[in-house]
Amino acid sequence: MAKTKDWNVAAERLPELLRRMPKAELHIHIEGSLEPELIFAMAARNRVAIPYSSVEELRSAYAFSNLQSFLDIYYAGASVLQTEADFRDMAWAYLERAAADNVVHAEIFFDPQTHTVRGVDMGIVINGLHRACTEARDALGVDASLILCFLRHLSEQEAFETLEAAMPYLGKFIGVGLDSSELGHPPEKFAKVFARCRELGLHLVAHAGEEGPPAYVWAALDVLKVERIDHGVQSTKDTALMKRLAQDRIPLTVCPLSNLKLCVFPQLAQHNLRELLDAGLVATVNSDDPAYFGGYMNENFLQTFAATGLGAQHAWQLARNSFDASFIDAAQKRRYADLLDATFAAFE
Ligand code: ADE
Ligand code: ZN
Repeated sequence: MAKTKDWNVAAERLPELLRRMPKAELHIHIEGSLEPELIFAMAARNRVAIPYSSVEELRSAYAFSNLQSFLDIYYAGASVLQTEADFRDMAWAYLERAAADNVVHAEIFFDPQTHTVRGVDMGIVINGLHRACTEARDALGVDASLILCFLRHLSEQEAFETLEAAMPYLGKFIGVGLDSSELGHPPEKFAKVFARCRELGLHLVAHAGEEGPPAYVWAALDVLKVERIDHGVQSTKDTALMKRLAQDRIPLTVCPLSNLKLCVFPQLAQHNLRELLDAGLVATVNSDDPAYFGGYMNENFLQTFAATGLGAQHAWQLARNSFDASFIDAAQKRRYADLLDATFAAFE
């Protein structure tokens, strides 16, 4: 495992180090960054009715018991998005928050089927999001790219139709993922469409082992041939799977506050992030749907470290893992790794 040295940072300086260290975010659903204020502003400008009378009332509905209870509200929130400017503004708001958290690289999920089903054209979605990513490079110093996700509660045929609609924009996204309701929708359901995406040279990732069993993680690896697993926290239930993930250096994009809010773990102190790191897995920390789960990147780091007692060495490992697990080239990975080491050196 990559390790330059043992970092010695005073405990009281750890929160500032967590905030300041450069990091990559690899698991963020852009529709999950839509804050209630923006939902209301877009509903008003697009004349879309929403069943809440105020920002406060909407926010108070964010009490979830599992993944599905969240998804129902998340898809309703996304219904206010109509124009290319809406998609650009949503992504821009996220990228500004990412920059404030010292996220220097982001690989951003989007759910086109949530929008195309409402009659919004694929071009409006992708062009709007892509514009924000392009602008962020110079204006915010954040390097961002897009990953198109297929909704697993829909059919593989619908995933193929989505891919077809996205073909004119192939240069504007770097990969595909699989999200939405996990239980009852195993990875195998999407074997053919992932094989086609692989032929097209797209990167492949999939949500697996968030609520679903280790068997879904195996299938994502062996059937879909994904390069990263999104969540994957159920993998600790299967020793052979843990060995496979460690040996093949398959990254897990872990989302602690999401896991807490969706009741995957009863308390943050019981989260298994330390176990994943101790087993030598390439685990990373991410925000998933920050507007719904109570925090962006730094909040995920700060709350998780406070609850689990992780230290500076873990912080360095998680940030380094985030760059190693990303889809950037080796030279850029090296530059980010050097920037990370310089930041830590300044804290010793
Ligand atoms: N879509 C948005 N957030 C998700 C999550 N945590 N799991 C599956 N699908 C999602
Ligand atoms: Zn997710």
